[in-house]
Amino acid sequence: VRIREAVPADATAIADLHIDSIRSLGPAFYAPAVVSAWAAVVTPAMYLSAMAGGEVFFVAQEHEQAELLGFSSHIPAAGPHGVSVYVRGTAARRGLGSSLLRVAEDRARAHGATQIEIQASLPGVAFYRANGFETVAPSDVVFDGQTIQCLTMRKVLIVRD
Ligand SMILES: CC(C)(COP(=O)(O)OP(=O)(O)OC[C@H]1O[C@@H](n2cnc3c(N)ncnc32)[C@H](O)[C@@H]1OP(=O)(O)O)[C@@H](O)C(=O)NCCC(=O)NCCS
Repeated sequence: VRIREAVPADATAIADLHIDSIRSLGPAFYAPAVVSAWAAVVTPAMYLSAMAGGEVFFVAQEHEQAELLGFSSHIPAAGPHGVSVYVRGTAARRGLGSSLLRVAEDRARAHGATQIEIQASLPGVAFYRANGFETVAPSDVVFDGQTIQCLTMRKVLIVRD
C-alpha cells in the first residue's frame, strides 16, 4: 500500500471512502440513525474547502488506479495541530490507520507542532489511545438532531533533533 499526498481531484474518492468507513465501522458504536446522520454530512465539497483552507490530506491505495483504502489529514493551527484518520472497513486492523496517522503526525512535527489533537468518534478512541493519545474531554457533535458522542484526545509530540 502506498501513501501519497492527496490533490483536489481525489475529493470524490475521499468522500466515498469516508462514507464507507462510517457505515462499516460506525455501527458497532452508534445507533443506525446516528450513523446515517453522520454519513449524510460527508460531501466531496467538504474536502475541497478543507484543502483550500490549508488542511493536507494523505491517501493510501495499492496502486495508482486502485480505490482508496484510507486517508489521514493534518490541520496546521496556532495551538495543537489537528489530525484525522479513516480507513475502509475491509482494510481495518492491518496497521494502515497507524501508518496514515504517522504521516500526518510527521507533517505536523515538521510544521512546528508540539501537540496534536483529534476529535475522536468512538470507533477511533482505542486506536488513538494505542497511538499515544490521551482523552482531554467529551466533545459530542450534533448532526441533524443526532448526537455523535466524541472525545477530544491529545498527544504531546516528542521533539526530535
Ligand atoms: C480508527 C481507525 C482509523 C483505525 O484504523 P486501523 O487501520 O484499523 O488501525 P490499526 O490497524 O493501525 O490499529 C492500531 C491499533 O489500534 C487499536 N485499535 C484499532 N481499532 C480498534 C478497535 N476497533 N478496537 C480496539 N482497538 C482498536 C489496536 O490496539 C490496534 O492494534 P492491533 O490491531 O495490533 O490490536 C478505523 O477504525 C476507522 O476508520 N474507524 C472509523 C472512523 C473513525 O472513527 N475514525 C476516527 C475519526 S476521528
